[in-house]
Amino acid sequence: MNKLHTLFSLKKLNSFNIDSTAEYFYEFEHISEIKEFIANELPKFESFKILGAGNNILLNETVAGVTIHPTNKQIDILQKTESEVIIRAGAGIEWDWFVEYTLNQGWYGLENLSLIPGSVGASPVQNIGAYGVEIEQFIKEVEVIDLQTSEHKTIAHIECRFGYRNSIFKLPENRHLLITAVIFRFPLHPTVNLNYKAIGDLFSDQKEATPKAVRQKVIEIRQSKLPDPKQIGNAGSFFKNPLVNKTKARPLIEKFPNIPHWEAPDNEIKFAAAWLIEQCGFKGYTAPSGAGVYKNQPLVLVNHGTATGKDILDLAMEIIAKVNQTFGIKLEPEVNVW
Ligand code: EPU
Repeated sequence: MNKLHTLFSLKKLNSFNIDSTAEYFYEFEHISEIKEFIANELPKFESFKILGAGNNILLNETVAGVTIHPTNKQIDILQKTESEVIIRAGAGIEWDWFVEYTLNQGWYGLENLSLIPGSVGASPVQNIGAYGVEIEQFIKEVEVIDLQTSEHKTIAHIECRFGYRNSIFKLPENRHLLITAVIFRFPLHPTVNLNYKAIGDLFSDQKEATPKAVRQKVIEIRQSKLPDPKQIGNAGSFFKNPLVNKTKARPLIEKFPNIPHWEAPDNEIKFAAAWLIEQCGFKGYTAPSGAGVYKNQPLVLVNHGTATGKDILDLAMEIIAKVNQTFGIKLEPEVNVW
């Protein structure tokens, strides 16, 4: 498959269900196709954007230039020993399908990351994480094509500089790196991670905590707390949990003794953005535009039907201002705003 479309609707390609149109839209499967596109077509466009499954973006009404969308779904085993397997997975694979597939193969580790909406290719960008696990723990390398030079190369884990909801792929200077595949390393013997309290509490008998049982529990928790994008448009957590240095955090904790917080690396404290937003009265709020704050998890902004990208952004700005005014903490979006 190798197609260039004009005035292409992105409504079904963004989980906020925003009515948005790409001026040009190019989808490809094979490296040879994108190389040919880079050589012959890309120079004709004034700008480009890279779109994965569209689960972590907020779109405008129109997206200028060409939007490039990888669709490769191939999985190859590169190496297998008694204790681990190394595989390459195409960027276009749907994330939760992949989690289930790996567990069925007896490749363990992704169970805590069940039901996260998105694609394999997008998973390293913000280092997706949930219930005590971050994807970087299983990434060996990330395979990219450089849209400026056509170079197809792998970037080693250490060079990806993974952090909390962060990697080099988020930097503006790397926007020409298109992820074509991810190389993962999975253990072949299950070692489940029950460190996240909400998960650990569900398994009083450790023997019952098989990877598939953990996956089932994670799915149940997510379904009870987070809106299904197929029913209510959303992009998961809209904001990151803010990190504040300890000197600034201490007086806040004294002033608000109930404020949920955790120790983080680098002398920082992580606060629960959900709590800050809830305290400001936004939980379950819906603006006249249809942009809203989810009733069960205020970190998630939703589109109740007719909101535009600007409507959602306006609500996000209102929340940022109110939280800053109340707590002196500036929330940052986790979602990419186009
Ligand atoms: N809280 C409230 N009110 C609420 C919900 C939560 O005050 O209505 C407070 C509670 O104190 C709770 C704390 O927020 O203990 C944390 O809540 P939760 O366990 O639901 O997790 P989170 O920090 O809000 C993060 C991720 C989620 C991930 C969960 C579970 C970020 C930005 N979000 O949310 O990721 O599923 O932990 O690991 O780190 C996503 O990135 O799209 C996403 C959904």
